[in-house]
Amino acid sequence: MAKPPSADDEIFDLRLARSAPDLFPMLEALYGARPDYPAFRDRLVKALRKGWADRPQGLKRLDLLRDLEPDWFQRPGMTGYVFYIDRFNGSLRGILDKLDYLQDLGITYVHLMPCLKPRPGDSDGGYSVMDYRRINPAFGTMEDFETVAQALRERGMSLCVDLVLNHTAKEHAWARKAAQGDPKYQDYYLMFDTPDTPRLYEQTLVEVFPDNAPGNFTHYPEIGKWVWTTFNEHQWDLNWANPAVFLEIVEVMLFLANKGVDVLRLDAVAFMWKRLGTRCQSEPEVHMLLQALRACSRIASAAVIHLEEAIVAPAEMLPYLGRGRHDGKEGNLAYHNSLMVQFWSALATRDTRLMTHVLATHFPDRLTNATYATYIRCHDDIGWAVTDQDAAAVGVSGHGHRGFLSEFYEGSFPGTFAKGALFQVNPLTGDKRISGSCASLAGLERALAEGDAAGAEMAVQRILMGHALIAAFGGIPLIYMGDELALPNDHGYLDDPHHAHDSRWVHRPRMDWALAEARHAADTPSARVFRGVKEILAQRAATPALHGAVPLRVVSAGNDAVFAFQRLAPTGGLLGLFNFTEHWQEVGEAWVRALGATALHDALSDARVDPHQGQIVLPPYARVWLT
Ligand code: GLC
Ligand code: GLC
Repeated sequence: MAKPPSADDEIFDLRLARSAPDLFPMLEALYGARPDYPAFRDRLVKALRKGWADRPQGLKRLDLLRDLEPDWFQRPGMTGYVFYIDRFNGSLRGILDKLDYLQDLGITYVHLMPCLKPRPGDSDGGYSVMDYRRINPAFGTMEDFETVAQALRERGMSLCVDLVLNHTAKEHAWARKAAQGDPKYQDYYLMFDTPDTPRLYEQTLVEVFPDNAPGNFTHYPEIGKWVWTTFNEHQWDLNWANPAVFLEIVEVMLFLANKGVDVLRLDAVAFMWKRLGTRCQSEPEVHMLLQALRACSRIASAAVIHLEEAIVAPAEMLPYLGRGRHDGKEGNLAYHNSLMVQFWSALATRDTRLMTHVLATHFPDRLTNATYATYIRCHDDIGWAVTDQDAAAVGVSGHGHRGFLSEFYEGSFPGTFAKGALFQVNPLTGDKRISGSCASLAGLERALAEGDAAGAEMAVQRILMGHALIAAFGGIPLIYMGDELALPNDHGYLDDPHHAHDSRWVHRPRMDWALAEARHAADTPSARVFRGVKEILAQRAATPALHGAVPLRVVSAGNDAVFAFQRLAPTGGLLGLFNFTEHWQEVGEAWVRALGATALHDALSDARVDPHQGQIVLPPYARVWLT
């Protein structure tokens, strides 16, 4: 007599049945024509079943809990904090000593920047991974990692880690075998015997790192191959057209999920599929792959969600959050790069027309089972992703505006408040990306250096306005380590031979724990920024209208200096107003009331706003959340 299935087996079978329509049609479209497809499919289901069987009991309980509360990551209490482990407090164990600090700030989600074992030497900040099953020995062990995951969970904090799935380090075991001539592993990568095909691809490819890693292929005479290397030479692109790669990565995903990871940040996903004659970014197959990967997580580790890193134009970015045929089935989170770019653009011009145009026309009012990761700075550079069409719509030249923003934030434009550094200047396209910490780009470094107290005050207000914006816009606000203390640029990277070529290190300073200690007592810009950000996050957590599922409507305030949006909550909406200038501004009281903010209560300061002669008066860089 057959044994009745255990409750555990039944849960797996139910989850497999639930997600089968999201998984198998994608796999069939991608790999169905191959003779090895049926065998691949069986091996995948076996791997999922094993992942589930290996899943610790506590995490299985979390799976159930999140099935019951699928909006857990959209709630207004979710706030992320992003850091390099060594730069935060030395090691994984070092994090344990600083959990009180994170909790004090109001953090409920922690993104540990790349922590898996990287190649030796320059590893692109850990994005060149040599072993997906080991922790970077410089940070600790897998046991330490699990200890941190557990400690975070006990404090109600989620854990996000990077999974680099576009490429591995050339030192990864697969790449080594490929280099030794093993055809099985050569098929894991994109390797060519002659430069002919690479040349054809190059005609339509763009360069990510034109300065220090020009081109998209690397020739290795000793191997006799041209290898696809979109990013750095040591980062070999994986061949996702090979189902063996899909299976390997799913096994890695489940391995990490079972160590207690809540959020997988899928790195550089746009580049996963190649097609001759295209930019090889955001091809339709990328979305099929990502929907299939998401289904795998839902089957074997339902608590886990996916953050997709696709730093592309708005129309190209939205599908990563699941649109059209992938509606609600792809990424749970994706970076709102446009919001970040438009924030800096409007700060520089003191004019929110372009921002309003872009955010009102290209983005839907709501997303299914998904939300944004909102941010004002991250560990990467800022590329001025403003299209010529959008610029023209508000009467400016795209090329001119992008060039202006680079000069403004590099710090060379007359009268600028910012201090940054150029990144990957591309003479061919005229592209100049920008590095710089939030505080330095917002003007604090320059003002302090010039002994300009009023300028420093404006910088503090800009930083807080930015945080109030990303906290209210919809999505999980992600705070990059040190921004909450207004840490300035760090030029020390120039002394490190592994970093000197990459100006992104200028905005990846080490944590300043002395400043952190003084955060409650001092009256410095740093301490005031900390307390301001903390207050913003606390008020956000207490404001139901800021739930990620509440629809958003960007509106025109009738004053180009003020950016405005509504959060259309059924229980009572919210109108966000943000003054992007160092001058006092007004918006009409009648307009505000007509949009439903009749109580004129500012949820951010928890105070009533008193109109003056029919106008709501906004001080320099004011931010209000009117209910
Ligand atoms: C991602 C990371 C970036 C890295 C790149 C290559 O975009 O954010 O830092 O350079 O991937 O892995
Ligand atoms: C480009 C890529 C992004 C990467 C970044 C690194 O923007 O699209 O994935 O993180 O370059 O600077």
